[in-house]
Amino acid sequence: MQRTLAILKPDSVGAGHAGKILAHLEAEGFEIVAIKKMHLTTEQAQAFYEVHRKRPFYGSLVEFMTSGPIMPLALEREDAVTYLRQVMGATDPIDAAEGTLRKLFATSIETNAIHGSDSPENARDELRFFFSRAELIAS
Ligand code: CMP
Repeated sequence: MQRTLAILKPDSVGAGHAGKILAHLEAEGFEIVAIKKMHLTTEQAQAFYEVHRKRPFYGSLVEFMTSGPIMPLALEREDAVTYLRQVMGATDPIDAAEGTLRKLFATSIETNAIHGSDSPENARDELRFFFSRAELIAS
């Protein structure tokens, strides 16, 4: 079993798609180990996306991620990191395969509905960014 971090982004939470996305993730075999709803500060969004600081879209990404509430999720499943990225689909919904979450719910490469950690190492760091040790005790 492996854990990964997902974030339902402000576009999907704001559009009322959280329930549908959670049901989709459970149907794909993910256990929701921890979940919260929060509104990131600019400083928190800048820190989370630090790796993208030099990219041209960094400022806009931080603005978007602070534009409304998000829902971070700790998810558990066999091969969770890779499997979640398959279920999410390509970053840009134009390129996302039919049936993937981004094909279903994303509206642009930036407002792309959901984030998923891209490696087990980043998953560990990103889970710790949003959840305390106590919150990550298996339910
Ligand atoms: P995410 O998986 O959260 O990782 C970084 C985010 O940056 C990505 O999803 C998109 O929301 C955003 N992003 C990546 N590439 C671009 C781009 N070319 N233009 C705007 N936003 C982007």
